[in-house]
This record gives sequence, structure tokens and C-alpha cells, in this order.
Amino acid sequence: MANYSNIVLFGFMGTGKTRIGKEAAARLGLVFVDMDDVIVERAGKPIPEIFADDGEAHFRSIERQAVIDLSAQPGCVIATGGGVVLNSDNIRDFSQDGLVVCLSATPEVILARVEHDTNRPLLNADDKMEKICSLLDSRQVLYDAIPNQIDTSELTATEVVDRIVSLYQQ
Ligand code: S3P
Repeated sequence: MANYSNIVLFGFMGTGKTRIGKEAAARLGLVFVDMDDVIVERAGKPIPEIFADDGEAHFRSIERQAVIDLSAQPGCVIATGGGVVLNSDNIRDFSQDGLVVCLSATPEVILARVEHDTNRPLLNADDKMEKICSLLDSRQVLYDAIPNQIDTSELTATEVVDRIVSLYQQ
């Protein structure tokens, strides 16, 4: 059995990282960490306010520091923010000792999951579907490069967790 320090879930917004991460952590007796919560705590304000007051670049720098810290902290299931893949150093650090898994979903499923959410500044647009598709398009190659992939569109949370647990225990 490979000995991973932690499990790291990558993937676009609305692909189920938080929900699945919580369930996987509970099943495996690991600690669940939501990177967005860590960033909010460090910044002392919600994500939309970080983007509005300080800009995306500042958000990314807090995110980068959170990756450095969390990748050195074993025993966790980490739900990353959807933009963590934008910095290849983040992927490198989490891949060092962690099991990295990329969750995906169709744009339709993503839209249904995030439609009424106001906490994602990058999706603040009149046409959310268009925004999802263009962001996905620009990042697809980065998500596709993660070795372990699970499409969550038609799976239950339990089925997704089953797959993660089997990768973890391989
Ligand atoms: C972002 C995704 C969000 C959050 C921020 C930026 C992105 O996290 O980190 O709004 O760039 O895709 P979730 O993927 O948890 O929604």
C-alpha cells in the first residue's frame, strides 16, 4: 500500500471537492481541510471581499502560502480551490507525498450546483454558463494533467469516495 501523506482534491468549482472531501476524511479517519476556509481565516474576510478589495493576485498569493503549509501537514483530506491548478508549483508541492485526485463534472452539472451561490466571484456574470465554459476551457489542460480523474456528474458521493479510498489503499 502506497503511503500518502494526505489526499488532495483538485477540480473546477462545483465538482464536489468539499462534499466528497468531508466524506472521504470521515471514512478514512483523516482531518478534513477546506483551503478556501483557510484563506478566509488568514485574510480575515470572505472570498468575494478579498477579490473586490485586494484583487485576484492577492488571493492567489494567500492561496500559494496555504498550499506550502498544507502540503507539509500530513493526515488530511484537502479540498483545494478550483484555481489551485493555475500555479504549477501548487501541483508539484501537493503531488510530492500526497494522493492527488481531480474531480470533474459537466458544465450543466456545475451550473446546477453553483447557480445560486454568491461566494464565487469568478462566476459573477449574467450568463453563468458562458463564464463556466470559458473558464473551464482555459483550464482544461491543467485539470487533465492530474493523473487520477473522477467524473462526479453521474456518481453518488459514496461512489466517488469509494474510488478515492481504493486509490488511497492501492
Ligand atoms: C476559485 C475557486 C473557488 C475559490 C475562488 C477561486 C477558482 O473555490 O478558491 O473563488 O479560481 O476556480 P471552489 O473551487 O471551492 O469553489
